[in-house]
Amino acid sequence: MNEPHVVTIATYHDARDAYREKQLRQALYDAGDVVMADVLVNLHGDEHRSRRRVENRLFRRDSNARYERELFPPIVDETLAPFVAAGHAELVGLSHQMMMNLAAFTAGIDRPLRTQEETHHLYSYMMRFIEGATLAHYTGDHDAKRAEVAAALEAFDTEFLRPAIARRKRELARLDAGEITEDELPRDVLTVLLRNQGALQLPPEVVLRETCFYLLAGAHTSATAFVRTLDAVFTMHDVAPADFERAHTDMAFLQRCVHETVRLQPSSPVAMRWALDDITLKGGQVVALGDKVVIDLNAVNRDPSVFGPDADRFDPHRVLPAEVAPWGLSFGLGMHACIGQELAVGVAAEDDQELDRLYGLVPVAVRAVLEAGGRPDPEHPARLDPESERGYWATYPVVFARP
Ligand code: HEM
Repeated sequence: MNEPHVVTIATYHDARDAYREKQLRQALYDAGDVVMADVLVNLHGDEHRSRRRVENRLFRRDSNARYERELFPPIVDETLAPFVAAGHAELVGLSHQMMMNLAAFTAGIDRPLRTQEETHHLYSYMMRFIEGATLAHYTGDHDAKRAEVAAALEAFDTEFLRPAIARRKRELARLDAGEITEDELPRDVLTVLLRNQGALQLPPEVVLRETCFYLLAGAHTSATAFVRTLDAVFTMHDVAPADFERAHTDMAFLQRCVHETVRLQPSSPVAMRWALDDITLKGGQVVALGDKVVIDLNAVNRDPSVFGPDADRFDPHRVLPAEVAPWGLSFGLGMHACIGQELAVGVAAEDDQELDRLYGLVPVAVRAVLEAGGRPDPEHPARLDPESERGYWATYPVVFARP
């Protein structure tokens, strides 16, 4: 097959335009069908619209508020407690556990044992699913890897999904019988899918893949943002001590630190689309039918014409025009804009004193570590993963020393 012509987008305004263009179709997961076939981020047009409309209900403001204030804090506390009791943690491992547990809750995967082993086990499934979703980058035997991922999906189905479905069906029957109210139903994607399975014509294998997709969409992205923000805060200790103190006491400021981190280090550094027609973007860039469009988020989020001449610098005090989100385009835009954005990083308030605002699960989890007195372990310095071009931390040891 001929290599497609690639159009790279590196400026903020062109990227906005491309995200909104309906004649551009998702291309990032073409080789990842084993996990990603027919999941939300891969759908287009009417199919996408009807699935998204149903799933959106779970991520409305009132629902996000309940997650942030009521449902997530016990999970954050429960995950952190053993590490705080031990006096130390390795942040990369901790981030995976924390975000895995939160993503499992949102997706609708029960953890009946609630042990660290169970979380690790779920995490190893999720890593297999990520390997499946990103098969395009795999250099080994694709068929063998695909078979391995398919086997993992099947085992996950038996071990986690079927019991989760059975419990939700029992709860839905109780709702029908008037024994419980809507509010008492599990608040998760799986419950929403089961309630709408007929209307959306979802075969069981799509329910399986959609649930797995929510695990990977929510967990890995939030985990990297969590570790990177803590690193940014720890770095301020020497370079901006007043900001370091403020991050410990001012939640709105800490949230800005998360937003600035997510802008500078987007969890998914590129978006990709196929052109379904000839298009001219507003900035004049021409895309022909069949071209592949690559949105380079590292460049877009550092566009000096929008973020200023010091766009490369970490500055949680940065002032931006009202129409520009502080995280740049790290959550995408248009039809595939991240459904979990508000859940992950809250609302970007115009006024830091605004009452009743949502901060998001990443700021809440970062605050929990800071409140427990988390700081880099002086004996064991953190190390970046030398193999990763994306700047992932290999290990980030911290100690807990409550002031
Ligand atoms: C810091 C955390 C997160 C980041 C940086 C992030 C980033 C993104 C990006 C860039 C996209 C758009 C992909 C594209 O245009 O091709 C996206 C879509 C999506 N994200 Fe997130 N995400 C985060 C957290 C979450 C969470 C917590 C959830 C789960 C509740 C989630 C669920 C989704 C879903 C379901 C989509 C697909 C939406 C659609 O296609 O309509 N994300 N995310």
